Amino acid sequence: MNSVFWVAPPVGFVLSALNRREVRPCGTRDNCDDVEFDRAGKRRASSSCLHIYPGFSMSAILPVYLNETPSHQPIIARINEEAFGPGRFVRAAERVREQGPHDPRLSFIAILDDTVVGSVRMTPVIAGSVSGHLLGPLAVRPSFKNLGIGRELVRISVAEALRRGSEGVVLVGDAPYYGPLGFEQVAARLSFPGPVDAARILVAANRDDIQDRLHGKIHWRPAE
Ligand SMILES: CC(C)(COP(=O)(O)OP(=O)(O)OC[C@H]1O[C@@H](n2cnc3c(N)ncnc32)[C@H](O)[C@@H]1OP(=O)(O)O)[C@@H](O)C(=O)NCCC(=O)NCCS
Repeated sequence: MNSVFWVAPPVGFVLSALNRREVRPCGTRDNCDDVEFDRAGKRRASSSCLHIYPGFSMSAILPVYLNETPSHQPIIARINEEAFGPGRFVRAAERVREQGPHDPRLSFIAILDDTVVGSVRMTPVIAGSVSGHLLGPLAVRPSFKNLGIGRELVRISVAEALRRGSEGVVLVGDAPYYGPLGFEQVAARLSFPGPVDAARILVAANRDDIQDRLHGKIHWRPAE
């Protein structure tokens, strides 16, 4: 069985996040404007509302992290569309991802209250002499931001990639967000199939020679 099952560890983080976050009870058509209902009045699986009922147990709001499967494809597409809009297809990192499939063994979803609320994908790439992975897209549904879900998706996917022998995980993103998760700016020039701000090209690896070996054109490679 290839699937990896993770239950969110940062209980303290979630507790502190809840203290900061305004959470309101919801779950009926009348008192929740975030919930989506079908014609029969049944709540849709893609609803973005956090259902906190009186007497809820804290474990009910801990996300569960699972490997994505083909059945998650539609909801992941919706989450990415919601996060990045139509412009996502012209982004340089997306152009690399279009060259070949991502690796579902290293790609994870976050589930909360039976709803997929976040996703991260990993695509196998090669650059210079590094056989590594490109992380992204990473997205968390708006109603579930700031609960630590994005960081946990990054941690899990990077740990799993490195555990399976990836020589480095590259991404295009904001250093203030990814720096505390072990990412540093790529020192050499790494070229993508489109313009990218070099300060946003980051890498995480557990080997010292990564910066020397990571350079040139980044492109897709088949997963091992
Ligand atoms: C970026 C994103 C995935 C973060 O998910 P999340 O689950 O809300 O993130 P976390 O809860 O783990 O972390 C939240 C913290 O990161 C901070 N943060 C979020 N985006 C950030 C960014 N771009 N740069 C710096 N800090 C950021 C938040 O302010 C918050 O800080 P705090 O803990 O001090 O309050 C989510 O906001 C999202 O889907 N955004 C739209 C898509 C996107 O930009 N994806 C990343 C592309 S590189």
